[in-house]
Amino acid sequence: MKIAVSGKGGVGKTLIAGTLARLFAKDGFKVLAIDNDSAMNLSYTLGLDENTKDKIVPIKEMKSMIEERTVVKGAGAGVYNINPEVSDIPDRFKVSGPDGLQLLVLGGIEEPATGCLCPENALIRTLLYNLFVKRDEVIIVDFEAGIEHLGRGTAKGIDVMLVITEPSQKSLDLCKKIIDLSKKLGVINIYLIANKLFDESQKEIINNRIKEWEIPLYHSIPFDPEIGKADLNGDSPIDFNQTSKAVQAIKSLYLKLKHLKAQLFDL
Ligand SMILES: Nc1ncnc2c1ncn2[C@@H]1O[C@H](COP(=O)(O)OP(=O)(O)OP(=O)(O)O)[C@@H](O)[C@H]1O
Ligand SMILES: [Mg+2]
Repeated sequence: MKIAVSGKGGVGKTLIAGTLARLFAKDGFKVLAIDNDSAMNLSYTLGLDENTKDKIVPIKEMKSMIEERTVVKGAGAGVYNINPEVSDIPDRFKVSGPDGLQLLVLGGIEEPATGCLCPENALIRTLLYNLFVKRDEVIIVDFEAGIEHLGRGTAKGIDVMLVITEPSQKSLDLCKKIIDLSKKLGVINIYLIANKLFDESQKEIINNRIKEWEIPLYHSIPFDPEIGKADLNGDSPIDFNQTSKAVQAIKSLYLKLKHLKAQLFDL
């Protein structure tokens, strides 16, 4: 199952992607976590050791490898292969993390308004939509904030799109756009998740705001100071305090997704 996590900047995408990856891995699934955010901080949430973190080179920065895959010999400058060979890349460049999970750091797809057709972006995009998911494997992609990248093919082949909101109108507005675009791109399982909720009244307000939407609120996660403490310590939230309210809420989200996976794939 290929799960992607999207939403506005700072809503909790990396917390949710990383903690879900750990929970699937703890339960014995083969997990490949993919960091497709230019901030590249998924390794912290996953709890990789310092040595491994230091060794990571994002695919986007592997200039010579990108050149080797994308340059068309004999063609002039600006001409390159937009469908490069990528099938060996995950196995060659992924690193190992706790509970046997694996992480592949891509780096973000930064595209200026003109639409940058540079080779790095072509390679990352090809990689994302050619990712092959084996039976009992779970791929979790931590996307770049916003919506721009979605229209450019990164959402192709995604089985489950988790759209994260915080209790704010701006964040909800962006979720609506992500939901509409994901639908257009053919994603069938789209789930709205509210994070950083202070109390039930915020959940009610969100439910009120989305009552005309086709997609209801699937899950909610409370605001939890333990998450900030883990951040400050440089620890993975799940290692820092397994019993914290937010981690517990992500656990119950995990159980829903595990059940969904069984419904979708284990016929
Ligand atoms: N439920 C929560 N309770 C308290 N703090 C939270 C919660 N969820 C996330 N945070 C905090 O909010 C900040 C943003 O979280 P996170 O990095 O997961 O968001 P993001 O959507 O990945 O952000 P970005 O768009 O920058 O990649 C972090 O400092 C994190 O500790
Ligand atoms: Mg993030």
